[in-house]
Amino acid sequence: MAPQTAPARQNLPLEPTSFIGRGRDLSDLLRLLGSDRLITLCGVSGVGKTRLALRVAAQAIASFPDGVWLAELADVSTREEIVSRIAAAVGIAEEADRDLSGTLFDALRGRHLLLVLDGCDAVIGEVAALGRALLDACPSTSLLLTSEEPARISGEAIWRVPPLSLPSRQGDPALADSEAVRLFIERSQGPGSTVCPHQLRTITDICRRLDGIPLCIELAAAWMRFRSPDEIADLLTARFPQLTDQERGVPTRRRILHAVLDWSNSLLSDSEQTLLRRLSVFCDWDLELAERICSDEELPEAEILDAASALVDRSLVTLTGEYQGRVRYRLPRAVRRYAAEHLAASGEEERSVPATVARCCGSPRSSGTWPCSAGRCPGQSGTGFGTASPPNTTTCARSCTDPPNAAIPKPGCACVWACARSG
Ligand SMILES: Nc1ncnc2c1ncn2[C@@H]1O[C@H](COP(=O)(O)OP(=O)(O)OP(=O)(O)O)[C@@H](O)[C@H]1O
Ligand SMILES: [Mg+2]
Repeated sequence: MAPQTAPARQNLPLEPTSFIGRGRDLSDLLRLLGSDRLITLCGVSGVGKTRLALRVAAQAIASFPDGVWLAELADVSTREEIVSRIAAAVGIAEEADRDLSGTLFDALRGRHLLLVLDGCDAVIGEVAALGRALLDACPSTSLLLTSEEPARISGEAIWRVPPLSLPSRQGDPALADSEAVRLFIERSQGPGSTVCPHQLRTITDICRRLDGIPLCIELAAAWMRFRSPDEIADLLTARFPQLTDQERGVPTRRRILHAVLDWSNSLLSDSEQTLLRRLSVFCDWDLELAERICSDEELPEAEILDAASALVDRSLVTLTGEYQGRVRYRLPRAVRRYAAEHLAASGEEERSVPATVARCCGSPRSSGTWPCSAGRCPGQSGTGFGTASPPNTTTCARSCTDPPNAAIPKPGCACVWACARSG
């Protein structure tokens, strides 16, 4: 008889890279989960909210007999999509002639579980309303949100995620013990590596300049294969001035992140820059999809592999795991936003979208409005990072090229590119 396996009690993704520090946050948050049913991890993009939430959730599994379930909300825009992501995460199917939120609430009512809603920023108002109703209707359900801003509802415990710790004093023998410096060394040299005292001082300066923001540190550390710490420090100095302590704060961190992204982008080759901005149309993707969708005369298919590898090496693209035997990738959220801005500014979107969508799906009624549906891409609904199946951009492409099913994709949605290639 085949061995019985217990049903999975979580859907958390494997961590793509090592996790550094945060011991205090973890233990405090785990304790807080014992008393508070709604916790929001807040902070600037790239500060590490998602990584911290996933760690907390993984360590909390034993406290939630009905499991710990992640729903990724970074690319949804409506209440219906939020509900359908949550339902997909916990494995609740839609019933005929019934609102899915009713089915979901009924199913969760008796369950003792933790829902992790990651990337709530764009729908924080909808999440707040739905979360309040869910907490009222389901007394054993707890919520862990990540968002730049809090949900601002009663009973919410707001946890401001700090940057990684920086060394307190220059010349401190324990410099390398600071979380920020450890992350830089680990990402640039590999786990357990050490560096000479001069390099250590320079790396400390770099981490201070980047204010301990992990995404910025990873982007800077990725250039260590090609540059010394001194060169990286000089390049950063040229890019943006030293900030005084009084100037530091959330808006400043946003500026630092933008400057580091600009800097990192400026060091890429033309084809790498082109690929980066085109990849912003995907939630996640595999190589074949990127080759098919992102290539054209300017960026031949044969160059995509090398350009994509370079983006992985520079920490601008991360691996998310394997799906159906293919490795899948994604852009960190802040990188995706940055790349999408560049895609829009490049004019490529305007050139290809209207013509392609009109060809595949009918003509827009007037500029800016599309003929059918709610302006969302059907193939993306209910799927996403961390759910059972990854976003099916091929389905998007098929839906959009098949007139009976045609709903109009958002400009910038992957299916626009898919249409462009297949139309
Ligand atoms: N404690 C940590 N140890 C190692 N790497 C980390 C840690 N925290 C964050 N990182 C890395 O920094 C990057 C940004 O982290 P993360 O995605 O969690 O940020 P975020 O605050 O959720 O950003 P966003 O608001 O854009 O979603 C990721 O590549 C992540 O792996
Ligand atoms: Mg995040």
